[in-house]
Amino acid sequence: LKANTRAALHQAVEVKAPATLANMGAGFDILGFAVADPCDVVQAEPCDEHGAHIAAIHGDEGKLPLDPAKNTATIAANHALQRINAAHGVRLTIHKGIASAGGLGSSAASAVAGAVAVNALFGQPLSHDDLLPSCVEGEAFVSGYHADNIAPCLYGGVTLVVGVEASGIRALPIPSGLYLAMVTPHIRVETALARACLPQTVALKTMIAQTGAVAKLIDALYRNDLAALAAAMEGDSVIEPARAHLMPLLHEQRAVAKQHGALGLVISGAGPTLCALCTDTHSAEQVAAAMAAQYQAAGYGATGRATQIIDGGASTRVLR
Ligand code: HSE
Repeated sequence: LKANTRAALHQAVEVKAPATLANMGAGFDILGFAVADPCDVVQAEPCDEHGAHIAAIHGDEGKLPLDPAKNTATIAANHALQRINAAHGVRLTIHKGIASAGGLGSSAASAVAGAVAVNALFGQPLSHDDLLPSCVEGEAFVSGYHADNIAPCLYGGVTLVVGVEASGIRALPIPSGLYLAMVTPHIRVETALARACLPQTVALKTMIAQTGAVAKLIDALYRNDLAALAAAMEGDSVIEPARAHLMPLLHEQRAVAKQHGALGLVISGAGPTLCALCTDTHSAEQVAAAMAAQYQAAGYGATGRATQIIDGGASTRVLR
């Protein structure tokens, strides 16, 4: 070993990194939460070569880059290896449970999994806060410097994220009795395109409405008022109108979700996944099925799922 380098403590670890819903409607780029399903799973093993390498990627239909310089998992893993001053490299096997360009924080989950796996392999020398910059670097490669998917994926729960540093992250209350119905039409919406559609300036009265919606949203979280939460999330008057044309049947899906008992519906991240807020698990299942059926009737493949916000973020298991 070279002086001051750190050797791996384990032979293999596995990390589960959850999907996340960024924006929560009105809270563009500053709010997000982690959900129980779906997730990415990454296994990591030490290797003699320096740096992070990809052994295989499963579940991405061959779409994601195997080049370590272009994959968010290996970019984040490389950053973490340098922070740790690792004596050797790592080889990652990535199982994509989260579809890319689907609005569920797929690139962020891989980045978080890569960095967390490196940290676990080397015996957890870094705290979550120390790992954040590595995760942000990975995510930035595909969708720029914002951490509204990274933070909930790493820390879990509902997070307020102002900027990309740990000092700007706050855990917010997780609403109790909230169930989510999500539907992902099988089309891709690239985050860069969805961001390019956004206005660069907004009128003062729009700004007042938007900040009002965010304030109501935070208040509703603290009071656990689910109806008020849904209304505040839907109170986004800037981002959704600018992106609506990228989400097929957005308004029809909101109507169907509400007919089946949902309190409200928002675009998940940059879309196209839509997320409806429900008050029990049966209702969430019915809403998810109704939304998926509406897409299928219109000729879109679609995946519906009922899920919930989860408290913990990426989790680690030592395999060997
Ligand atoms: N806040 C981001 C957006 C999340 O909506 O563009 C997607 O990466």
